[in-house]
Amino acid sequence: MIKIKSPAELERMRASGRLAAQLREAVVARVAPGVTTRELDAYAREWLAQHGARSAFLGYRGYPGCICISVNDEVVHGIGGDRQVLMGDLVSLDFGVSYEGYVGDTAKTVLVGALQPESLHLVQTAEAALQAGIAAARPGNHVGDIGHAVEQVARRARMSVVRDFVGHGVGRHLHEDPQVPNYGRPGQGARLRPGMTLAIEPMLNRGGAAVRVLADGWTVVTRDGSLSAHCEHTVAIGPEGPEILTCTAAN
Ligand code: MF3
Ligand code: CO
Ligand code: CO
Repeated sequence: MIKIKSPAELERMRASGRLAAQLREAVVARVAPGVTTRELDAYAREWLAQHGARSAFLGYRGYPGCICISVNDEVVHGIGGDRQVLMGDLVSLDFGVSYEGYVGDTAKTVLVGALQPESLHLVQTAEAALQAGIAAARPGNHVGDIGHAVEQVARRARMSVVRDFVGHGVGRHLHEDPQVPNYGRPGQGARLRPGMTLAIEPMLNRGGAAVRVLADGWTVVTRDGSLSAHCEHTVAIGPEGPEILTCTAAN
């Protein structure tokens, strides 16, 4: 069952979305050579407490962190730890913020220091795929139109789309109906209606699409060791088209 949010609920989704975006930018600003992923998680924990919000990830199915930090060949669900961020690393950061009963979910991948052309191309393609997916999130379209748009951008750049993890509805809960795969056929899947709120989140690999989970039970890595990027926005389907909820005033 796909929930249609009332105007009052959408207001609350805007508030949690804005906070998630602000946290994202605050943590992104602290990503630098030498910082450990544990320090980034601790900073997010502190920031959330100061803003009267909490992590929607902490405790979710037993997840031990506040945010997810996935480096290089790690795709998603990396847990903060002793690992130091190094020059040239590709760092994917994912934030679920719960504020006054509603969740905002957003992710971004950043390149640390020295410009690696192949990493830059991967990140730019993931961002372009996200924007294409968002553009397809309009009333009358279907869930499959979103995935199709994402997939087309990846294919043109000869990158693969992770199929084992998908986007989703978001609202009172982190994960609601429907699933929003990053692949699909136009006109297939549930019809999009005003008041739906979706997390659209392409995960793109330089190599093959196959992934596996590390022994920690969480960290997802590419099977072939190739680099991976992840970006995500929470989007409301408006009567005229998509509204990105996870943006700050500046972006
Ligand atoms: N990556 C997921 C999403 O954006 C959420 C991670 S759940 C966690 O929907 F428990 F792993 F954090
Ligand atoms: Co997320
Ligand atoms: Co999500």
